[in-house]
Amino acid sequence: MIAEANSSENSTMILAVADDEIVGIGTISSNQKIKGRHVGTLGIVVAEKYCNTGIGRSMMDELIMWCRLNGITSKISLVTSQENKGAIALYEKCGFEAEGILKNEICIDGRFSNLVYMGLMI
Ligand SMILES: CC(C)(COP(=O)(O)OP(=O)(O)OC[C@H]1O[C@@H](n2cnc3c(N)ncnc32)[C@H](O)[C@@H]1OP(=O)(O)O)[C@@H](O)C(=O)NCCC(=O)NCCS
Repeated sequence: MIAEANSSENSTMILAVADDEIVGIGTISSNQKIKGRHVGTLGIVVAEKYCNTGIGRSMMDELIMWCRLNGITSKISLVTSQENKGAIALYEKCGFEAEGILKNEICIDGRFSNLVYMGLMI
């Protein structure tokens, strides 16, 4: 993934580091086909110990800025569980809007949840 991100103009990976430890990872993944190369799919995760300390927001801002400057990306997409209220609140604060819901798309311990697709035009 790192090699792929490094060799691609419209994909990247950023790390949040504290005390020499990786505490957050953010990615933009894009394909190279003409029809879809303007869309970057965003992924983000912060280590539990460091959640709610502003790292997620900083990484979101950095990834959005990177997309604005790469000269290719004009839309950022992401997908999250509808139950992940914290993540959805963060994405909405960054300007993302819900575009659609896939019902019962994931099943954890026998319980079904919906997925929300969100997008940001940049
Ligand atoms: C979702 C996640 C990336 C957020 O990162 P974070 O570092 O905890 O977020 P921050 O501390 O930067 O908070 C960002 C904003 O979201 C808000 N927020 C966080 N949790 C919230 C909640 N449960 N309800 C409402 N707002 C919430 C914060 O108030 C903050 O807003 P503010 O800056 O205006 O105060 C992180 O919690 C995480 O990695 N969770 C587990 C993995 C995951 O869910 N990844 C996303 C999968 S799609």
